[in-house]
Amino acid sequence: MKKIDVTEIEKLGIEFEKKNPQEIIKWGLDEYGNRISFASSFGTEDVVLIDMIAKIKPGARVFSLDTGYLFTETQKVIREIKTRYNIRLEVYSPQEGVEEFEKKYGKLYELDPDKCCSIRKIEPLKKALSDNLDAWITGIRRDQAPTRANTKKVEVDKKFNLVKVNPIADWTSEQVWEYIRANNVPYNILHDQNFPSVGCAPCTKPVKPGEDPRSGRWAGKGKTECGLHPSK
Ligand code: ADX
Ligand code: SF4
Repeated sequence: MKKIDVTEIEKLGIEFEKKNPQEIIKWGLDEYGNRISFASSFGTEDVVLIDMIAKIKPGARVFSLDTGYLFTETQKVIREIKTRYNIRLEVYSPQEGVEEFEKKYGKLYELDPDKCCSIRKIEPLKKALSDNLDAWITGIRRDQAPTRANTKKVEVDKKFNLVKVNPIADWTSEQVWEYIRANNVPYNILHDQNFPSVGCAPCTKPVKPGEDPRSGRWAGKGKTECGLHPSK
């Protein structure tokens, strides 16, 4: 495992502000080779990044966390992306299937969503991030939430002790959609049905035009993050 040079990463965080997403991705892939992987939920940002990554380095590592609660529409876009792009997709799932899990806990996503996310998202994430990685790439953007406003394009992820690369941290949702259209990238059809941000089916609701795009996630639960991206 490569030791993180915190001072160097902080310096790059400032320097990289001027670089475009492809330059950031190329730096990450050159620097970390097979010890970097892109975390994909196959949302709009993530399909854009897969298009960029596969064009820069065919066969690059991508991982996805499958909680067992994905929409069928999400499963469909995953199949389309796998057909279209040369990527090495690794899927991480919780130890228990949904049936066994619900027998034990009931509808935990309603009763205690933090615990549900911890078991079905964070545990598999920990497995993914400890699988020969020094760095991970994500699709987070600053304007998605106040908790993400200070995101750097490259930073030290203190929670998971890895370098975190966020190539489109400074993009807007409009830029993401422009890229999708210009490059004809497959996307989750739910985005055309008032679901701007898609997570697990039981915890994602459609939003009304003009509402916060993330307000459909854990709506009414007082929860905005699942623990993948801790607030700073
Ligand atoms: S979440 O924390 O609220 O679920 P969001 O859906 O905004 O996150 O996605 C932000 C970024 O987190 C994505 O661009 C992706 O890099 C990563 N991510 C989110 N969900 C997953 C998932 N199920 N599998 C892999 N990466 C994910
Ligand atoms: Fe459970 Fe909902 Fe979290 Fe998915 S988003 S892991 S269903 S609480």
